Amino acid sequence: GKVLVLHGPNLNLLGSRQPEIYGFETLDDVNNMLREKAVMAGWDITCLQSNHEGVLIDAIHAARLDGTQAIIINPAAYTHTSVAILDALNAFDGHVIEVHLSNVHKREAFRHHSYISLRADGVIAGLGVQGYRAALEAVMAN
Ligand code: DQA
Repeated sequence: GKVLVLHGPNLNLLGSRQPEIYGFETLDDVNNMLREKAVMAGWDITCLQSNHEGVLIDAIHAARLDGTQAIIINPAAYTHTSVAILDALNAFDGHVIEVHLSNVHKREAFRHHSYISLRADGVIAGLGVQGYRAALEAVMAN
């Protein structure tokens, strides 16, 4: 199997950005944990973070053509704004899991709506880093 993990804007600051909301683990910690788990199961995994919407969209387009079976995406603030990322995911045939570290429903009203959820097969919010682990387990079990 082959899985793509995408992290949206500001997630490069994980560990130092509002740790009371997002926790103290860094993005490298998250990606290393996921890589270890995927490799143990014989899966190919690519992890990418970008602060640029178009870079995330290009990565989704590439995933249409390179045998990627599943995309795990934390679109961060683009969750609430990006029809373009939704459209790109709609052009991808595999499994899509949307992950949020925080429980977006417990936060400001503008975080309650997700464009990405219109496409996602599953959504995990509020479990912190464990949400990524659960998402990876789900796609690898599929
Ligand atoms: C987030 C929630 C979003 O509302 C926010 O803009 C983020 C991170 C989360 O992981 O909880 O940047 O996606």
